[in-house]
Amino acid sequence: MRGSQKKKLLFIFVSLCMLLLVGYEARPFNYKEMEGMISIAHRGASNLAPENTLASFQKALELGADFLECDVHLSKDGELVIMHDDKVDRTTNGSGYVKDYTLSELKKLDAGGKFHSSFAGEQVITLNELFDEFYGKAGLLIEIKKPAKYPGIEEKVVALLSEYKDLNGIIVQSFDIESMRKINKLLPELEVALLMKPSIQHLSSQKLSDLTSFATYINFNVSYVNKRVIEQIHNQGGKVLVWSTKNQAWIDKAYQYDVDGIITDFSIWPVEGSIQLVQD
Ligand code: G3P
Ligand code: CA
Repeated sequence: MRGSQKKKLLFIFVSLCMLLLVGYEARPFNYKEMEGMISIAHRGASNLAPENTLASFQKALELGADFLECDVHLSKDGELVIMHDDKVDRTTNGSGYVKDYTLSELKKLDAGGKFHSSFAGEQVITLNELFDEFYGKAGLLIEIKKPAKYPGIEEKVVALLSEYKDLNGIIVQSFDIESMRKINKLLPELEVALLMKPSIQHLSSQKLSDLTSFATYINFNVSYVNKRVIEQIHNQGGKVLVWSTKNQAWIDKAYQYDVDGIITDFSIWPVEGSIQLVQD
């Protein structure tokens, strides 16, 4: 390579670096600045304790979570049971579908030992038990899993929630839009959230205006959300929560995109440091 070519390349490289520095001002942040966003413990503090158990929700509370997120299915005898998967295999010492177990059978399973022997004996819990323990202590974000597989699950959730006068800080969410529309009809004062599938990169304003007519939150996995869609939702008066923020970079992205809350496994929230910019 000739000397003049080398100089040219060096000039381009330096110019690009300067452009990046000027164009992207890294904003320092600290815990206080993140107070505008709510922190939601994903299945409890699920990388510190077995997910969706009393231990993980208790840990999340100790760490200062604003909300506890949980997943709900129906047992064979129609109880609202907290578990992420529709099978018990991954998180307990049992096997088979939640829907094929009665509550008393589920209670005999060990929901902690697979995570760590020190949690052996943790039980599968019900949504009623979650409310008994945590209502009024933290917000509750309740995800109804695959509602189409559980006819009547919306009515059961609404019946439980109707026992509580103050539904501030309670949100019900699902990937199933029609199920959330139904929840909104049954209990209009309750906030509902819609979970968007990865295929949703863009929402037409017509679609968005329909969704925000009954849902307060439109939620995304942080890995595929983009700034434009968040702005669109905010412009329509909606709010956005992002989930699977398991590391600093994802939390930084959520913060920069001005989301309303992050759903995190909670090992590193709150954190201090400087923001690493994450581009779409
Ligand atoms: O709260 C959103 C998030 O929990 C949805 O994904 O699979 O963790 O239930 P998943
Ligand atoms: Ca969930």
